[in-house]
Amino acid sequence: MVGEKAISKAVIKRLPRYYRYLSELMDSGVERISSGELSGRMHVTASQIRQDLNNFGGFGQQGYGYNVQYLYEEIGKILGLDKRHNMIIIGAGNLGQALANYENFEARGFVTKAIFDKNPELSGKKVRDIQVYKMEELEGFLANNEIEIAALAIPKTGAIVVAQRLVNCGIKAIWNFAHTDLNLPKDVMVENVHLSESLMRLSYNINRHEMEQSVK
Ligand code: NAI
Repeated sequence: MVGEKAISKAVIKRLPRYYRYLSELMDSGVERISSGELSGRMHVTASQIRQDLNNFGGFGQQGYGYNVQYLYEEIGKILGLDKRHNMIIIGAGNLGQALANYENFEARGFVTKAIFDKNPELSGKKVRDIQVYKMEELEGFLANNEIEIAALAIPKTGAIVVAQRLVNCGIKAIWNFAHTDLNLPKDVMVENVHLSESLMRLSYNINRHEMEQSVK
């Protein structure tokens, strides 16, 4: 499977998209696919696909193309989706509840074990079957449960302090929705998700399109 060499961030960023396309191909009964066909579907050049997949030993065979299920499973392993990842969510507001309600994360191996919120009125409530706890219970819960990922769904004020508490309890992976940089030690993995930045990129494209139309 995967060698020891470091894989570029750009490739890693593209892997979930390969995974999604391969999942769709499997659902529609496709057993093998050439890099050319995959390229047509994904709007990525065939050479880019070959280059990307060569990082992991290729998986393809000359004249045969790629075995869809094998490639899907191997990319899943590279992404760690063959393992279970226990998660907690900090913040039981709109966003925290939406994350907790999304059952598909579980299908991918991401299992939310608890939600924490500073509002004591939410304590004891459940989102699906996931319980909301008080922030005072955080350290005890983390000491007694194997949790790998913490999702931060709270405002930026407070996010840095909470992130530090999580790190002090041994959390090494933070899925950060709070609008702030967390500046944590290097061995803590932070994945920032900012939907508004994505919207701003869309807005930029709308702007550019309108400008192009106006000069025509
Ligand atoms: P909300 O107001 O519905 O919920 C926030 C919850 O966090 C509340 O239940 C509150 O009691 C709790 N909370 C606040 N400070 C806390 C702390 N220090 N410790 C524990 N719990 C705390 O807000 P919503 O809509 O759920 O959004 C939450 C945050 O996520 C907002 O600050 C928002 O800016 C951000 N957000 C980020 C997005 C992104 O794409 N990155 C998208 C949507 C929201």
